[in-house]
Amino acid sequence: MTKLSLPSHSPLLTKNFVYGVATASFQIEGGIEHRLPCIWDTFCDTPNKIADNSNGHVACDHYNQWHNDIELIDSLGVDAYRLSISWPRVMTLSGELNPEGVKFYTNILDELNKRNIKAFVTLYHWDLPQHLEDKGGWLNRDTAYEFARYVKLISQAFGERVFSYATLNEPFCSAFLGYEVGIHAPGLIGKQYGKKAAHHLLLAHGLAMDVLKHTSPNTQNGIVLNFTPCYPLTQSPEDINAASYADDYLNQWYMKPIMDGQYPDIIKQLPSNQQPEIHPGDMDIISQSIDYLGINFYTRQVYKAHPSEIYEPLAPQGPLTDMGWEIYPQSFTDLLVTLNNTYTLPPVYITENGAAMPDTIKNGEVNDADRVNYYNSHLNAVHNATVQGVNIIGYFAWSLMDNFEWAEGYLKRFGIVYVDYKTQQRTIKASGQAYKHLIKSRK
Ligand code: NOJ
Repeated sequence: MTKLSLPSHSPLLTKNFVYGVATASFQIEGGIEHRLPCIWDTFCDTPNKIADNSNGHVACDHYNQWHNDIELIDSLGVDAYRLSISWPRVMTLSGELNPEGVKFYTNILDELNKRNIKAFVTLYHWDLPQHLEDKGGWLNRDTAYEFARYVKLISQAFGERVFSYATLNEPFCSAFLGYEVGIHAPGLIGKQYGKKAAHHLLLAHGLAMDVLKHTSPNTQNGIVLNFTPCYPLTQSPEDINAASYADDYLNQWYMKPIMDGQYPDIIKQLPSNQQPEIHPGDMDIISQSIDYLGINFYTRQVYKAHPSEIYEPLAPQGPLTDMGWEIYPQSFTDLLVTLNNTYTLPPVYITENGAAMPDTIKNGEVNDADRVNYYNSHLNAVHNATVQGVNIIGYFAWSLMDNFEWAEGYLKRFGIVYVDYKTQQRTIKASGQAYKHLIKSRK
């Protein structure tokens, strides 16, 4: 497949539907000598944590190449660019703004504005300053207040340059992968940590929303959550219960507090040492209204019942991406429709969707037909959700370019632009060309 096609009447083919590309600071920037260390620097320095033993020292060298990269973004014809701010780049140890770091981002934002590209700014995409981790990181309630302080200063410094803020990216990954199963930074392992970290992250989100209402009332302010829909292996009550528990524990845990001011009911089943410490007023802070919801979607997961662990994920079957994730676009539609039926949703942006594929470059071309296929089926899944009444107003491809894929290092390529890490040369893949043509073809 070389083209992306949608039904001609699709709202995804109108000019007011926002198309963008997304990245995150640690994954692309490099330039580490210009910022404080973060938890991912430390994690990369810990043996056996990153598949290729790599780190973020250079990454895509976006710290130096940012101007060319914005030209590249512009050449794709997108309406928007979703980037994240490195907290350790813009703040000093003593909690002041670092002018050099602020300048790096205001230059980028100014260039985006000059080219009429909307800036979607994520304020936390996992690169917590290490000195805060040394005081407990997201297990320490104070980190939420530190975050609010940083958000206040940086949003004031950015002024009118930003179109939309996301407080956090995928708090599930920070809390569960980082503090419960340990495959992400800071690498803590234990059920006594995960939900505590999650609560402080959600509190940080709520506090930051409050700040943004004052410092940045004209931007669209919200949060980005990831969902991996949970399916039961069989229709047995045990498997259905396993899948529903997994959904509450892994997905709704981050959604329900924001929408309904409550954790899922399974909170009552958690042993006391696994419970978050909820202070009076916390749930009100967490559940204040958001202007939009960002949804990241990649795959689904099938579960069966497990006698002690309650749920057990099954090894993915069927067509897989290079991450080993099942390609199952119907679950994207189902997810969006179910969320819309369960909650009163604000407008939705798909803030990430995409696939890692084993790309090769031949004669200066990357023919990633399987990725084009993925985008085609998933854009149509989004279209189908809009037909069923979900108010989806934009879509971002993950990612603009190949980059540091966390625990997988540089081994997995998610870009619609290929990066040669030796030369830092960028090459638009067939998927990037297809995306560009789709965007251009809108009425
Ligand atoms: C979600 C994350 O936000 C992003 O950083 C990551 O690279 C992609 N998913 C792919 O795993």
